[in-house]
Amino acid sequence: MDNTVEHHLKERIKELNLLHNTAKILQDHKKSVEEVCTELVCYLPPAWQYPEITAARIIVNDQKYVSPNFAITRWCQSSSIFVENREIGVVEVFYLEERPESVEGPFLAEERALINSFTEMLKYFIQHRMDDAALENAKNSLEKRVNEQTQNLREINVNLRTEIEEHLHTKEKLQSYQQQLQQLALQVSLIEERERREIASDLHDHLGQALAFVKKKMLGFRGENIFSGHNSTLDEIITLLNQAINYTRTLTFELSPPVLYELGLESAIEWLSEQFESKHEVKIKLKFKGILPTFSDEVKVLIFKSVRELLLNAIKHSGVKSFRVSSISYANSLRISIDDSGKGFSLVNDLEYDADKMQFGLFSIRERLLHLGGQLEIITSPGNGCKATMVLPNKEG
Ligand SMILES: Nc1ncnc2c1ncn2[C@@H]1O[C@H](COP(=O)(O)OP(=O)(O)OP(=O)(O)O)[C@@H](O)[C@H]1O
Ligand SMILES: [Mg+2]
Repeated sequence: MDNTVEHHLKERIKELNLLHNTAKILQDHKKSVEEVCTELVCYLPPAWQYPEITAARIIVNDQKYVSPNFAITRWCQSSSIFVENREIGVVEVFYLEERPESVEGPFLAEERALINSFTEMLKYFIQHRMDDAALENAKNSLEKRVNEQTQNLREINVNLRTEIEEHLHTKEKLQSYQQQLQQLALQVSLIEERERREIASDLHDHLGQALAFVKKKMLGFRGENIFSGHNSTLDEIITLLNQAINYTRTLTFELSPPVLYELGLESAIEWLSEQFESKHEVKIKLKFKGILPTFSDEVKVLIFKSVRELLLNAIKHSGVKSFRVSSISYANSLRISIDDSGKGFSLVNDLEYDADKMQFGLFSIRERLLHLGGQLEIITSPGNGCKATMVLPNKEG
């Protein structure tokens, strides 16, 4: 074979060897950019025409990797490494001594092609590594954020639990206070009624009886000679005694109507209406539908007192003079309503007890009814009258 041809062939083999070795090294995905560059820089000189006077350098991100005999000279062939349009390094081959001129200084055209191919292969490897690193970074920061969020959520969860527990605790406390309050409203009512009953029976048994006795005596004096000429005075005294006896009886009834205990709720409400009609000059229409259930004295008293309070409210606040009391008895509940077509009011505070205004009527009715398992319904608005309905379970407890 011709010497030149053989020389050319040897050169091409050296070049192919470099590309082959480069490909092999770059295939190892476990290797870092530093390891790859350190190895590859030593494979570069043997692939050039004059290996014994050739040195090489690879620069990547300011990191320099050089072949053993490295020195910078003016005979240099180089190829820049671009990643995403940014120059991140360079591959350089130096001849340490002068050699005859060729296509690119002393370098061959094939060597230009070789260094470009080498740089391109290295560039893809670096790009992959950078992508991997970016991916890893993104993954790590995502994991970090997920962990942070999880931790935050955990803390929020713990706080929420504590808050819920506190709320439940407060709610239980409130419920217990409310029950105590209802119990108290009931007790106050019952104690008041008991006192009224005692005063009423004292009035009846002592004052009433005493007055009746005095009246009887006075009547006896009428025919006596000793009082002749004083008959008009006696008559006056007897009239006064009659008034006192009547007043005592009315007071006794008003304090605690015996009719409630003797004849029941319906008769007591009828009696109450008559009382109010004559005392306050109003008209009260009664309508009872169905037979009222029999309640214990205590519940009867509570219902009676509530009807009295609602009627008094209508008389005091409605501005009209006629009212209606009606009751409907269902299988499971009893509804007693007191309604008027007066000025009504706005239910802004949902019947909350207003300590400043000292309004206790509706509030205490509601609390008493709640305690008995019932409720107070009020339909009213300014200018549209008022209908207050007590709803009670038909059977006690
Ligand atoms: N039938 C009604 N018509 C118009 N307003 C009413 C009627 N019933 C109640 N109200 C209004 O509701 C308020 C609350 O009534 P509530 O019975 O609780 O208190 P009060 O009657 O003012 O005082 P208390 O009953 O404690 O003596 C009344 O002050 C009144 O303004
Ligand atoms: Mg009232």
